[in-house]
Amino acid sequence: MISSDHIDLPPLIGAGGTARLPGSKSISNRVLLLAALAEGETCITGLLDSDDTRVMLSALHALGVKVVRQGTNAIVHGCGGRLPVDRADLFMGNAGTAIRPLTAALALLGGTYTLRGVPRMHERPIGDLVDALRAINCSIDYLENPGYPPLAIHMGSPNVDAPIRVRGDVSSQFLTALLLALPLVSQQHDVVVEVVGTLISRPYVHITLALLARFGVRVENQRWQRFIVPTGSRYASPGRMTVEGDASSASYFLAAGVLGSLHGHGAAVRVEGVDAHSIQGDVEFARVLERLGAQVEWGDGFISTHGLKPAHKRLAGGSIDCVAIPDAAMTLAITALFADAPTLLTGIGSWRVKETDRIAAMSAELTKIGARVEAGADWLRVHPLPEGQWHSASIGTYDDHRMAMCFSLASFGPADIRILDPGCVSKTFPDYFQTFASIARPVPVIAIDGPTASGKGTVASKVAGVLGFHYLDSGALYRTTALLALRQDIKLDDEPRLSELALRLPIRCEGSQVWVGPENVSTAIRTEKVGRAASSLASLPGVRQALLALQHSLRRAPGLVADGRDMGTEVFPDARLKVFLTADAQARAERRYKQLISQGISTTMLNVLRDLEARDARDSKRSVAALKPAQDAVPFNTSTLDVDQTVGQVLEWWRQRS
Ligand code: DC
Repeated sequence: MISSDHIDLPPLIGAGGTARLPGSKSISNRVLLLAALAEGETCITGLLDSDDTRVMLSALHALGVKVVRQGTNAIVHGCGGRLPVDRADLFMGNAGTAIRPLTAALALLGGTYTLRGVPRMHERPIGDLVDALRAINCSIDYLENPGYPPLAIHMGSPNVDAPIRVRGDVSSQFLTALLLALPLVSQQHDVVVEVVGTLISRPYVHITLALLARFGVRVENQRWQRFIVPTGSRYASPGRMTVEGDASSASYFLAAGVLGSLHGHGAAVRVEGVDAHSIQGDVEFARVLERLGAQVEWGDGFISTHGLKPAHKRLAGGSIDCVAIPDAAMTLAITALFADAPTLLTGIGSWRVKETDRIAAMSAELTKIGARVEAGADWLRVHPLPEGQWHSASIGTYDDHRMAMCFSLASFGPADIRILDPGCVSKTFPDYFQTFASIARPVPVIAIDGPTASGKGTVASKVAGVLGFHYLDSGALYRTTALLALRQDIKLDDEPRLSELALRLPIRCEGSQVWVGPENVSTAIRTEKVGRAASSLASLPGVRQALLALQHSLRRAPGLVADGRDMGTEVFPDARLKVFLTADAQARAERRYKQLISQGISTTMLNVLRDLEARDARDSKRSVAALKPAQDAVPFNTSTLDVDQTVGQVLEWWRQRS
């Protein structure tokens, strides 16, 4: 179920299929800038359409660069190293891949510019880059807090005679920004950049160097400590450029191909848009998964995973150095929940300065679902989460697309996962949840709805028995609420108190037996009085809402058969098979009469019939969750069939669907 402020993910039992990745954000924004600065026209295909690329495109537009865009294709008319507009106020959103290289390029080219972003952008450090640029006589001022955007850039007189020193141990994007901009001022002699400290996130610098080469500039890389931009470098359009799929986002689908197999229902998940020749370091994630026990296949233009290697029952734990895969490493924090030993992720200090403090965010949200987590300045240890210790949780996403995407994998665990603010994925993968749903296999539900005494309870529990599925008699929840309400003298129209009672119902269902605390109430809830009270309080929206989470929590592997009035319409609208059982009122009254007598409850046939007709009328006329077949339900009149014939038919439909 999706709304703008959350998405409820159904628990998953498997995965399988093909996911096509959107273009890489890192490559898209670098290519847009390079094409804008180059001589000639560049025709880009596979461009990511997302918040961050829109930020770059609108900045280029404001700087006078002509870009003609059609979906994921764009034609950029390069300005040959001279931007047409030398005065502009640029909005950078929360796009680190836009503000950093633009700061360097604009400061070196000279002009009067301001660069601002969303509040989080103003908390993300840029001081190391500004220091490096100021040291070579660029003119940059902080408009608010020293070390952070917003920035004002003025006309400077850059001097690149001496080596330019930049710190590399906080973010590699500062080095990338310089490498993208310095070819603009390398006409007289070589320009040298020296990295201070150990360079992190080298794979992202590798992307930069590979793309510079595509645009005609070959930078010499001296062991990741010194980089030399040769004299006379200038950007020339390669003509056509195809943007690779986003390798960091590949990690969710590759992980799904492994986690999906844990319940024995996994098929291969194939991810298209990246392969072994990718220039993105995050493809290494697939090799890490392979080392942890996953079965990985590398093809031309795709990578796929299919469960675990034969010798493995679970993913391995252990220590993983994530310096080379900082973004995809977040996915490992979730797969770690399903591993056979604790997983220690090291070299993730850069998480602290990403869209949010990802180490803090990851620890907080993993803890919500019950996980044991320990964290340090640049490491995180996640312990496996045993089956019985998962908590259902609403996961905060901190305006961080990768938090939202990696926590979707928690739906392979036995708990209900709600992702808050799912729209934050639009930063890099606007239709992520649709793509994820297309490869996800939710725990199957068979919904059997119908009026009182249509036989749905007997049929549903027998079908569940044959398939080895769990069974939910949703009527028992309403009946138990009614029983307790009658005992506690709560009026049957007191919605707030009844809803409160339903929300904290101390119920336990074991097959057809229903317990409230230590008391077996299976017989007590079947009386006509309780049935009437249940039908009455079931018309209150607050009560129905209060019982929803309890019903969802019973959807567990290997599957659920649920019977009631609104299983197919409201509670499990994605049920794989929906059956709407009916029978003539006379036939149903006879069945119910026999049932009551056999339970030792005395009544008459006429009473049962009248009661049943009154209840039918109330259940189908109420304004919320009225008894009606779901549009995709199979109607099934069982007046002339016995239980075994009915069960046989439902199983037959199930076989056809699975
Ligand atoms: O199926 P039953 O007779 O045990 O249900 C008792 C009452 O609970 C019924 O009159 C209507 C209500 N009910 C409901 O509104 N929605 C359900 N899913 C199940 C039962």
